[in-house]
Amino acid sequence: MDSEVSPVAQAADLRARLNRAAYQYYTLDAPEIPDAEYDRLFQQLQALEAAHPELSTPDSPTQRVGAGIADSLRPVRHALPMLSIRTETDTTPQGARTFDQRVRDWLAAEQRRTQLKAGEERLRAEPLTPEAVAILAGAPVDYVAEPKFDGLAINLRYEHGVLVQAATRGDGETGEDVTHNIRTIGQIPLRLTGAAPPVLEVRGEVYMRNDDFEALNERMRQRIAVGDKAARTFVNPRNAAAGAVRQLDPSIAAQRRLSFFAYGVGEVTPATGGGPNWHTHWQILQALKDWGFPVSALARQAQGADELIAFHAGVAAQRDSLPFDIDGVVYKVDALALQRELGFVTREPRWAVAHKYPAQEQLTTVQSIDVQVGRTGKLTPVAKLAPVFVGGATVTNATLHNELEARRKDVRVGDTVIVRRAGDVIPEVVSVLLEKRPDGAPEFAMPAHCPVCGSDVLREEGEADHRCTGGLFCPAQRKQALLHFAGRRAMDIEGVGEKLVEQLVDGSIVHSLPDLYRLGFVGLAALDRMAEKSAQNLIEALEKSKQTTLARFLYALGIRHVGESTAKDLAQHFGTLDAVVNANADQLLQVPDVGPVVAQSIRTFFAQSHNREVVEQLRAVGITWPEGAPTAGASLPLTGKTIVLTGALPTLSRDEAKALLEAAGAKVSGSVSKKTSYVVAGEEAGSKLDKARELGVPVLDEAGMRAMLK
Ligand code: IVH
Repeated sequence: MDSEVSPVAQAADLRARLNRAAYQYYTLDAPEIPDAEYDRLFQQLQALEAAHPELSTPDSPTQRVGAGIADSLRPVRHALPMLSIRTETDTTPQGARTFDQRVRDWLAAEQRRTQLKAGEERLRAEPLTPEAVAILAGAPVDYVAEPKFDGLAINLRYEHGVLVQAATRGDGETGEDVTHNIRTIGQIPLRLTGAAPPVLEVRGEVYMRNDDFEALNERMRQRIAVGDKAARTFVNPRNAAAGAVRQLDPSIAAQRRLSFFAYGVGEVTPATGGGPNWHTHWQILQALKDWGFPVSALARQAQGADELIAFHAGVAAQRDSLPFDIDGVVYKVDALALQRELGFVTREPRWAVAHKYPAQEQLTTVQSIDVQVGRTGKLTPVAKLAPVFVGGATVTNATLHNELEARRKDVRVGDTVIVRRAGDVIPEVVSVLLEKRPDGAPEFAMPAHCPVCGSDVLREEGEADHRCTGGLFCPAQRKQALLHFAGRRAMDIEGVGEKLVEQLVDGSIVHSLPDLYRLGFVGLAALDRMAEKSAQNLIEALEKSKQTTLARFLYALGIRHVGESTAKDLAQHFGTLDAVVNANADQLLQVPDVGPVVAQSIRTFFAQSHNREVVEQLRAVGITWPEGAPTAGASLPLTGKTIVLTGALPTLSRDEAKALLEAAGAKVSGSVSKKTSYVVAGEEAGSKLDKARELGVPVLDEAGMRAMLK
């Protein structure tokens, strides 16, 4: 920088550049200068302020990192009370209609009240606003609908455009001064962009993104593991955020990476006459955006109850894929004149309502911890819960994954636990309420013997999972193996479900995979619940399944680590079953995506005589497939190429594109690595495209892909 320029001007210039960079980085998520450049400017400013302490200002980015430790949180009396919102008790989508009707009823009551008062006082009735008159005549009410963020409410006070104070809501009248912590939040401007009224209070929610929350808990677990007594994990992002905001030491908030959404204003002076000329809440949101605040991109204007219902459903559908937690949506009457007319009941405005979604977390108790045995013998501890309605469904089971995980969470029989179920995600025990643990509850331990067949349980070196060593001797493994074998993507035998497999195995009718094909009509029809017609259908389905492909057959065998796509690769590469059975490790490693672990697993499988026996018997009962020449010698245009599809292609669906590529010999994979030959990207391609660019993998569009197929 030019040394002629005064230190005051230098500092102002550096602050402006750093504040702009922070806005681009944190709020727009589109940095324009590299991190190193930011650090360099930041250090320059720090040096300048150190040399000239009189230059230090509250809006200086150097103030973000935490000036010192507060000795207590000072009370702050709010210039305007911070209200809460009424929660609509009807959680069905119809709740929106109830609210809309209530708004109309209130306006009608307001009209009667002014008329009555006018009558008593022999005056002319106070006119209602034109908006209210139109609504009473049947016009729809204009609303703004927003997500209800699950964090904590904060009031930010700006004087002459500079952040001077941040306070929690407290009891609504008096909150706590948390300015030192709020300054550390990169998304909160220390100085507003553009002109602002002399006093502007901005209200919004401080929250923690789910990925930041996971990262925080991971750091905490690492600290706990090395014996750090001060470390603890958090139950949910809201608690982690609220805890950070109320700390005395701002370095804690700085480490926790908090975020912010603005959704309203408090005191604004002057409110009129030279102040902002707002007529609607929507205009307020736009102004907040212009001043540099993050405002949710999900917020919408909505007309009448129907559009509120559509919003409620639309946001619900996205809820699980949002990067942060929401517990519902908020509807607000858009016109500020109508808001004033509607007013408040106690501390809740009549013009706003919270419409919640079913809670994703609930308390329940652990009735037992069962250990289930999977197809490969893996033992999975499962917490059996007192039934609880959470995330829109009744939950009675939650997997604890493995012993390590069960011990980490330290779930015990009799415990009160928080269970979480978000959308289609499998229910999970989030944490245990230790204060409610019954005396003498024993720690969970994996059994030494398989709970199903009594065989020894082993845990292999370096593996998290325990396994039953019983193999197909273990009825649990046999059942799972049969279900897998018959599955839609394997041999595709219609009618082989859990109930049937249970009867076949428990009744000692089926001992091995080939036994399935030896089932006679008489034996089947004698089974419980098996009508003649179903027995006939099953026999036909078994017959039909005998014509298959090598890939399906290999997958159906249930070789550890051989999923559907590896099975396809093996079939394509070797062409015949014998070639796969006899392949040595080096030959197996030639197959795309087959590494040492997979190769070893295939070798081990076919090295066992009883497995080769099963394969022989299956062929003997008539299972066949067209055996081809090995395609390892690149007979198709894309043989040996691994391709990743991402984003929406203009004319082809994902499945269509996949089928075309596979027909041309390519392998279609779900993740980008150094081995990826091409990435085919469409609209709204995300992290896979970034990864491809990072690794220098060539990127094609649909047209490029089609050209390659020719
Ligand atoms: S508006 C007068 N909008 O929900 C209306 N609140 O009791 C004042 N919240 O404490 C609040 N998302 O912390 C509003 N989009 C949103 C919100 C929101 C979350 C919180 C806020 C408040 C509580 C309601």
